[in-house]
Amino acid sequence: MKRVSDLAILDILTAPDPLLKKKASPVEKVTDEIRTLMDDMVETMYVAPGIGLAAPQVGVLKNIIVVDVSGNDEDPHPYKMVNPEITWASEELATYEEGCLSVPESFSEVERPARVKIRYMDENEQEHEIEADGLLATCVQHEIDHLNGTLFIDHISRIKRSIIMRKLTKMKKMA
Ligand code: NI
Repeated sequence: MKRVSDLAILDILTAPDPLLKKKASPVEKVTDEIRTLMDDMVETMYVAPGIGLAAPQVGVLKNIIVVDVSGNDEDPHPYKMVNPEITWASEELATYEEGCLSVPESFSEVERPARVKIRYMDENEQEHEIEADGLLATCVQHEIDHLNGTLFIDHISRIKRSIIMRKLTKMKKMA
């Protein structure tokens, strides 16, 4: 059984923050420290609440993401992915209204491949390749973007992006 008291809720960086624009590095070895980080990221994502979180969002420039797109009435199904990579993407596209814990209170439609194959390593250094569609496909692509310093607002029009950035800068000043 998971002892909730051992988990830390991490601070989530919000745009504009220079760390969110940086490229993260591959993880060579999954150490206990990395496993603890992933557990804390899952807990932080649940508390936020959100459906995905990438390590750069908590200030760690490593290729690690966590995702859980299960519904409220379903059992939790967290994915902890180390060095995730898109190995195939469908030509068919899908549009979802996206949000981001690093871009609070803003949402915008983003078009991405509808289905992808993702290769990643789990917390025990086991390699996996899964095919994802629907919300999982979108969410994993959004999180992998974070590892390359890309936010969902980088996929939308410049006008919409500048409206959102102005709002974020104002929110930071008031905080
Ligand atoms: Ni995000």
